[in-house]
Amino acid sequence: MSAPDLGADPGPSEARIGEAVAHPNLALVKYWGKRDRSLNLPATGSISISMGAFTTRTWVKFGDERGRDEVIVNGEAADGGTATRINDFLDLVRTEAGLDGKRALVRSDNDFPTAAGLASSSSAFAALGLAACEAAGLNPTTSELSLLSRRGSGSAARSIFGGYVEMRLGNRSDGQDAVAAPLAPSEHWDLRIVIAVTDPRPKRVGSTEGMELTRKTSPYYPAWVETSSDDLRRARDAVKNRDLSALGEVAEHSALKMHACALASQPGLLYWRGGTVEAMHAVREMRSAGHAAWFTVDAGPHVKVLCGPDDVEALEGRLRCIPGVSDVLVSDVGAAARLIDPPSEA
Ligand code: PMV
Repeated sequence: MSAPDLGADPGPSEARIGEAVAHPNLALVKYWGKRDRSLNLPATGSISISMGAFTTRTWVKFGDERGRDEVIVNGEAADGGTATRINDFLDLVRTEAGLDGKRALVRSDNDFPTAAGLASSSSAFAALGLAACEAAGLNPTTSELSLLSRRGSGSAARSIFGGYVEMRLGNRSDGQDAVAAPLAPSEHWDLRIVIAVTDPRPKRVGSTEGMELTRKTSPYYPAWVETSSDDLRRARDAVKNRDLSALGEVAEHSALKMHACALASQPGLLYWRGGTVEAMHAVREMRSAGHAAWFTVDAGPHVKVLCGPDDVEALEGRLRCIPGVSDVLVSDVGAAARLIDPPSEA
């Protein structure tokens, strides 16, 4: 892997510890498909909202010895696939900082269910990128951090920033312009995300695998890519004008279009459970009854509802009554990823 340019000259680092927190984000205009797999470049831009109620906290220390990184996620040693993904990601930081081969200790904890489809990879790689750069003595800009985090997970590029964020498609083959940027801070617009958790089991087809299958086999994939710029324009305007029905409509459209495209893959990708469909109907019924609420669904079975603060209670009550909905969580709009200063000692 070629290392991204992380700006500053690292210089000697004594402590070699960094600690950071980041919030997961929810895509309102979805990213689904890559134009370059090795650099993790998206085939479309995307727009998200940060979920401030959930946090990933990650601590990184680079030692002097060589060997495999030690990665503990939520108190348990990371399994092979996760450990390799984190090791490859840390190699980008090591290369940039001249720490080649130096072993890292990584501890990462989520205060929300990791496998519950709440976009934990977005906050995971944002917090890891920030903590690892700090530990390595690098001093990247937020754009450089967004570029770095994208290499771990496309959605993580957006979690470097808080509030409302746009991930740009970019057109350079080296990916240096495929970077996220803030559209508006959290204070711009006080919205809520109400999440109907429908199935606690981890998803069977991860997003990278699902995206590749869709790109290669769905007859609707070209249309999905072609129509995204219009969705982005509508969502950008809606955020700027604080127009909830415009934002909700485009969010629902983008989610259904992404799933229609994935469903048409061979074999078809079906992320929904019964509770997912019931919750989507319930949101539309609530809307007919006068509540300003719109749903979106990611590569998993949970339904995420975008609404204003006044509609949270009614939505929560309605969603809790749906058979197949096991829990309902609520988030406000979150802040940017940030360092913990000073970091914990061990
Ligand atoms: O960042 P990844 O590789 O986990 O992919 C994210 C895919 C979706 O969550 C479905 C959409 C998005 O834009 O976050």
